[in-house]
Amino acid sequence: MNKLSIELSQKASAQQLLIIGVTSAGEQNAEFMQQDKLRKGQLSQAISDGIISGKKGNTQFVMRVNAKEPNLLLVGVGDTPLTLRHYREVLEAAAEAVNSSKHTDVHCTLPQAEYVGIDAQQALTHASLIFQNSQYRYNDESRGKAAKDPAPVLSRLTFPAVGLSEVEAQTAIAQGQLTALGMATTRTLGNLPPNLLNPEALAEHAKAMAKTHGLKCTILKRADMEKLGMGSLLAVAQGSTTAPRIIALEYKGGKGAPIALVGKGVTFDTGGISLKPGAGMDEMKFDMCGAATVVGVMQAVAELKLPINVVGVIPSVENMPAGNAARPGDVVTSMSGQTIEILNTDAEGRLILCDALTWTQREFKPKQVIDMATLTGACIIALGNHTSGLMGNDDALANDLLAASEQTYDRAWRLPLFDEYDEQLKSNFADMGNIGGREAGTITAACFLKRFIENDTPWAHLDIAGTAWVSGAKKGASGRPVPLLVQYLINQAQAEA
Ligand code: BES
Ligand code: MN
Ligand code: ZN
Repeated sequence: MNKLSIELSQKASAQQLLIIGVTSAGEQNAEFMQQDKLRKGQLSQAISDGIISGKKGNTQFVMRVNAKEPNLLLVGVGDTPLTLRHYREVLEAAAEAVNSSKHTDVHCTLPQAEYVGIDAQQALTHASLIFQNSQYRYNDESRGKAAKDPAPVLSRLTFPAVGLSEVEAQTAIAQGQLTALGMATTRTLGNLPPNLLNPEALAEHAKAMAKTHGLKCTILKRADMEKLGMGSLLAVAQGSTTAPRIIALEYKGGKGAPIALVGKGVTFDTGGISLKPGAGMDEMKFDMCGAATVVGVMQAVAELKLPINVVGVIPSVENMPAGNAARPGDVVTSMSGQTIEILNTDAEGRLILCDALTWTQREFKPKQVIDMATLTGACIIALGNHTSGLMGNDDALANDLLAASEQTYDRAWRLPLFDEYDEQLKSNFADMGNIGGREAGTITAACFLKRFIENDTPWAHLDIAGTAWVSGAKKGASGRPVPLLVQYLINQAQAEA
């Protein structure tokens, strides 16, 4: 990934491309007026002639008229003040235009308090994140030479530190950029094909990341899981020729009990014996995006050197149909001792997460547990592709996650976990079934997980089935919910300090 050099500078140099916002009505800002003056009123003339438009997301290059001035990229910002959504769309349009040009050095004046209804630091974080994230290309060598996307040529990006101290501005930039680099790791793991990214390979990737960023990495293999009595996870893994793994990544930057992140790592979900239909099944390679999020967040936390302790745990399996695969009707005993009737082998995520949750709590004694999983198709029906589902047993934790989701625009929405829903998991043959029927499928999946939370440990569950990847022409992992979780952990670190 092309890592930008992002710096502060009050003014664009003549060699840079200068990005300026243009509003659709009323007055233009000081940058615009200054460039207009240098160009003897050409820019305002072009606006009145309708050649330049302030329509939101419109982008237009304006050539320098002499060597002492920068080239311009005029970006329509529409009506101000911008909502966070529109501000981000404007930044995305600007980044796309920059990447379509050959400018290597850019000065961006879009993070302006007068445009956005958010504070200057957040405005800078969003800008750094969006520009760095726009550098991402999936160029694993398995893609083949001909298919590779050319890397953007941008190498340096400067922002004016409007209304911020140097330290505040640098902190904001680092948050945005390091979050985007974490997202890149998450996206690449998600995008890798399932023949290359099986549980063993995922463990190798996590180990390599841990080594580079100074994290402790522990890997459990099948024999370890057998000793621990993880009958539920092992039942999902038993039909695959690639062996399961549990990966633990430990970051120690502070004192006290860690926050645990647990991510679903099904490297391919065929549904097992309850086989999925064929159409679009390739997208079930993304069923490890919860796991990939854990790796990306742990990387960002390490690079940001947050003064807290965090442990990331990834249960990883491949869910395959086979002669030795688990059957609907099988009853298994989880590590917690609770028995489960597997009514549908396609509800496998919860079967691996439950044992991972038990192990995480007993091994690391975390003060909070947050799991993330592409867990239910029902979540896409409920919330579509814009919003992750959030559930949990602790209002304070849920509200803190919602706050982080608003700050980052990596949005989530809470669903209830009332006792009535839990009754849908009743089984005549075990402590519980692994499905709760068609109704409220996202909630009953969370009710299942809740049964494995011990001593009322504050726990939250993010169902990212609709948000972790994009389908269609731009098919690929999105890197969500890395921004939400990194922001949450930053907020926690600040609250503790
Ligand atoms: N990984 C899927 C959920 C999923 C489906 C995510 C489609 C994104 C897109 C999960 O393992 C699954 O198959 N869930 C079942 C649960 C059902 C059997 C209760 C589902 O959602 O259909
Ligand atoms: Mn499934
Ligand atoms: Zn799945």
